Amino acid sequence: MKFTIAIDGPAAAGKGTLSKAVANHFGFAHLDTGLLYRAVGAAVLAGQDPHEAARNLDPTTMNTTALRTPEVAQAASKVAADAKVRAILLDFQRAFATRAGGAVLDGRDIGTVICPDAHVKLFVTASPEVRAHRRFLELTSKGMDVSLETVLADVKARDARDRDRATAPLVAADDAILIDTSDMDIETAVQNAIDVINQKRGTI
Ligand code: DC
Repeated sequence: MKFTIAIDGPAAAGKGTLSKAVANHFGFAHLDTGLLYRAVGAAVLAGQDPHEAARNLDPTTMNTTALRTPEVAQAASKVAADAKVRAILLDFQRAFATRAGGAVLDGRDIGTVICPDAHVKLFVTASPEVRAHRRFLELTSKGMDVSLETVLADVKARDARDRDRATAPLVAADDAILIDTSDMDIETAVQNAIDVINQKRGTI
């Protein structure tokens, strides 16, 4: 059985948590595609060429903890504007999406570019202030010394870069279902997503 769920949205909207919970609920594999760009961004910060780094990327050995810093997030957003980097990372994502047993992919362009034929497309969003506050709590809980103002500025800078780039910009697919988590707890957001997916599965 092949069933693809595409989950897109801006930074810190709750996509990651929601995607993991949805994948877990349906027993599907999950790919956080942001980690691919983060791994390339981290390699560039370490002095590597972005295309080489993308070509040599082994998605099975990514150090996810080291990739979750604000510096790597900004570097990821920069390399993600490079059309060649995106092209190199495309095949792996498409193969993952069509694996047997079902797949959930989350990112920025899953419903628009990577999996335009996904069975379900969700666009998860929230206001920049709410997203910055969540990211601030996440980073400070890991002991990182950041201010809310800096995190908000980072979120806005990343939003602008991700939305305004020429290749595969962050935008909801026409047929995506919008989930705004600004005033929603994660349990409600997950339940909404599961309800939408169950409805779609019933019609296939
Ligand atoms: O989801 P994230 O915050 O880990 O993503 C980091 C950056 O990677 C994000 O700012 C833009 C880029 N990205 C992308 O361009 N396309 C994707 N499918 C996923 C992430």
